[in-house]
Parts: sequence; C-alpha cells; structure tokens
Amino acid sequence: MAKIILKDVVKIYPGNKEEVVKSINLEIRDKEFLVLVGPSGCGKSTTLRMIAGLEDITSGELYFDEELMNDIPGRERNIAMVFQNYALYPHMSVYQNMAYSLKLKKMPKDEIKERVEHTAKLLGLTDYLERKPKQLSGGQRQRVALGRAIVRDARVFLMDEPLSNLDAKLRVQMRAEINKLHQEIQKTIVYVTHDQVEAMTMADRIVIMDNGIIQQIGTPKEVFDAPNNLFVAGFIGTPAINFLKGKVLKDGTFVTPDGVELVLNEKQVKLVAKHKAFGKQLVLGIRPDSIDISTTGALNVKIDIAELLGTEYNLLFNLGSTPFVARIKAENIIASGDNLNIAIDMDKVYLFDEETTIRLT
Ligand SMILES: Nc1ncnc2c1ncn2[C@@H]1O[C@H](COP(=O)(O)OP(=O)(O)OP(=O)(O)O)[C@@H](O)[C@H]1O
Ligand SMILES: [Mg+2]
Repeated sequence: MAKIILKDVVKIYPGNKEEVVKSINLEIRDKEFLVLVGPSGCGKSTTLRMIAGLEDITSGELYFDEELMNDIPGRERNIAMVFQNYALYPHMSVYQNMAYSLKLKKMPKDEIKERVEHTAKLLGLTDYLERKPKQLSGGQRQRVALGRAIVRDARVFLMDEPLSNLDAKLRVQMRAEINKLHQEIQKTIVYVTHDQVEAMTMADRIVIMDNGIIQQIGTPKEVFDAPNNLFVAGFIGTPAINFLKGKVLKDGTFVTPDGVELVLNEKQVKLVAKHKAFGKQLVLGIRPDSIDISTTGALNVKIDIAELLGTEYNLLFNLGSTPFVARIKAENIIASGDNLNIAIDMDKVYLFDEETTIRLT
C-alpha cells in the first residue's frame, strides 16, 4: 500500500510571513495517478517537496499509509523523484546512469543488471544502454531520467513538471508513455504540472490549486463538467470558457449592462430562485463548444478572427463588449470579418455568483 494523506498542511518559508500552502487536506489513493495543477507560484512544487521530505512542514500532518512522516527524513521515505531538470551524468552511459543509485545501495551486480534491463525494456531504451546522454534525443533522455527513478522500485513516485523541457510533439508522446508506464508499474504517482491539458489527459484525479488553496479535487471529467467556481471553470478547458457578466430579471432573462439578452432555461431559473439571486451580479460560463452557428439565432456577431484548425474553427468575436471564442465545425467557410448568427446551447451554460465566485448548484 502507498496511500498519502495530508491533514491541514501549511507551509510558511523561513523568514516569510505568508502561507504559500494554506491548510491543505488531501488523500492520495494507493496506485493513483494524481496530478497537481495550477498557475505559477500557487504552491504545487512546495506541496510535492513536503511530501518528498525536501521541505519541512510548517504545521499539519503528512502520513504514508498509517505512518506519520513529518519527522522522517526524505531519504528514508522510499520515494523516487523526477524533476524538470533531470540532469543525467554526462560521462556515464545510459546503463550506468540507471544503475547508479542501486550501486550506491550496494545491490549485487546481477540484480542491478536485471533491474536496469527490465526497466530499459519498459521504457524502450534497450538499444541505447551503451550510449552517453549527449547521443540521445530529448525524449530519450527524459526516459532515462524516468528509468533512473523506476529502477529503485520506490513506493511512491513524485514528478515535478518532468516534460516541460520537451518540445510539444515529444511532450504528447511522453505523456502517453508515462500513462502506459503507470499502468505497468502500478505505483502511486503524484505529478505536478501547470499545463491543464497534461493534467486532463494523464490524471486519475486532478487537484486544482490557486494561491496555496485547493480549489477542487476530482476526475478530469468531474472538474470539466462541474467546476466548483470561476477559477476552476476558467482554468480547465481549451480554448478557455467565456464569462458573461450580468443580472437575471424576474422573467428569466439574463441581461448584461451593454444589452445582450439570453433566455435561461427552466432549471437555471429555478437555481436563481433557489439562491434568491434575481437582480444579483451573476456570471454565465459558456464553453466555446456550446456555441454554434444558427440560421434562426437571435445573436448576430461580427467575426474578428476565424482560425482554422483543420476540422474546426476558433471564432473570435465580441458579444456586446465581452470578448468571446467559439469552437465551430469547419463545415462552412468562415472568414474574418463575416457577420454570423450564433446560438448558445443554454443547457450547457453554468451560472456563477460573481461575488463569491461559486457555481450555483
Ligand atoms: N525557498 C523558498 N523561499 C521562499 N519562498 C519560496 C521558496 N520556494 C518557493 N517560494 C514561494 O512559494 C510560492 C509557491 O512556490 P512553488 O514553487 O510551490 O510554486 P509552483 O506552483 O510550483 O509554481 P511553478 O508552476 O512556477 O513551478 C511562490 O510564491 C514562491 O515564490
Ligand atoms: Mg513548481
């Protein structure tokens, strides 16, 4: 078993006053692939480093299974960590790089050989074992760095933006490889990234952080379909969700200060009633793929930019004075400057309280 529990974990760096991690509660399940995601500076690496024992925990408790880890030194936690800057030893071969930590542990030579060869096979590195790092591609080097962590057979793997040095194509490829690897090794992985696409495609569950606080924990589908608040809705999804500010009138019409009007569906009107939010400042969340071209649509917009992405367009326009993006199938030819009627699928629209930022449910 390798369950990790954080209870009210706080981090204040020495000499600072600010809590960069603010009372985090999190239970990471055995064999889970958990991804910590959030903008730069939100406390992801700090959280990971506390789990690793590379940073002290200011207050709160960290458990591995039932065992309190706060005062157990990092080297005794049996974890393997992969960093963004994975610095392989340049003078050593791939084999030696992967064998190094085992040699330090004085493992017998044949066992080292067996483990390194097994790991190399898992990672498709068998043919490269005699090469030096500089004779490898970026992706191959990254795999060696992963291999170095995996050979140790640690109980938990911690990865801090391990793919951010790679170009876009390699990142996509390595993403899939790490997923496959996780299925094969069946270990708990905590993975940090600021890239929400990486989080969505790799995670069993995602933890979305902002400003040292967990904003939501859930499967990729849960955080996409049911975002807790404006931050999560805005962070997950590409292109990003559109936000439209306004108020709901008694008759169920949503109106913006610049005169855009949308008719809410019955369910949404009930929600507004439940929250006594008629006349209150609300925000509609409208995903780009909830907008379509319509022959009857009441909303006429001028397309500022039409970006063709193969089978789909990203259409950029203003709805009233609010910048919007719509993702539309490329069935018709659309050009920048065109005037179009659009329709919004109101059943897919979210309602948020502007003041609290919370989604109405
Ligand atoms: N050693 C340190 N001493 C003081 N403050 C620090 C230290 N390390 C990080 N911080 C601060 O703690 C906050 C969280 O940093 P952290 O590295 O955890 O962010 P992050 O989410 O990993 O960001 P990024 O995506 O940029 O890596 C930041 O405001 C950062 O400036
Ligand atoms: Mg970081």
